[in-house]
Amino acid sequence: MKKILFVFAIFSLVIVSCGETKKEEVKKEVESVKEEPKEAAASADDLLAMGEKLFTDKTCVSCHQLDAKIVGPSIKDIVKVYDDKNGDIVEFLKGNQEAIVDTDPGQVAIMKANLDGFVKDLKEEELKALAAYMKSAE
Ligand code: HEC
Repeated sequence: MKKILFVFAIFSLVIVSCGETKKEEVKKEVESVKEEPKEAAASADDLLAMGEKLFTDKTCVSCHQLDAKIVGPSIKDIVKVYDDKNGDIVEFLKGNQEAIVDTDPGQVAIMKANLDGFVKDLKEEELKALAAYMKSAE
C-alpha cells in the first residue's frame, strides 16, 4: 500500500510540475506578444509649436493678432466666442461650420478666401495644431 501511495505521489508531482511549465510557457508567450508601446503621439508641446509655426507660415498672423483686431478678430476674441458657443475651430477651418465670430458677409468672405487658399491642403493634425495654438495663446 505504501508503495502505491508513493508512486501516486510521484505521479501527481510530475503532473503538477508539467502543468506549471506549461503555464510558464504560455505566460512568456503572452508577454512576448504584448505590443511594444506605440511611439508616443506628438506631445502637446510639439502640437503647439507646430501650430505656432503654421499660424505664421500660413499668414494667419497677418490678420489675427493676439489681442487686437486688425483685419480679422483677435485670437482672444475668436477663442472666447468658440468657448462660449462650444464651437470647434477645426470644423470651421475644414469648412464644415459657419462663421460664429464675425458673421458680416464681407468679413466672412475674407476669411473664406484664406480657407480656400491656405487651409484646404492642411492635414487634420495641422488643423488641430492651429486650433490648439489659438486656444493656448494668451
Ligand atoms: C486676410 C486676412 C485673414 C487671414 C490671412 C486669416 N484670417 Fe481668419 N479671419 C479673417 C476675418 C476677416 C475673420 C472674420 C470673419 C469670420 O469670423 O469668419 C476671420 C475669422 C477667423 C476665425 C473665426 C471664424 C468664425 O467662426 O467666425 C478663425 C478660427 C480664423 N479666422 C482662423 C484663421 C487661421 C487659422 C488662419 C490662417 C490659416 C486665418 N484665420 C487667416 C481674416 C483672415
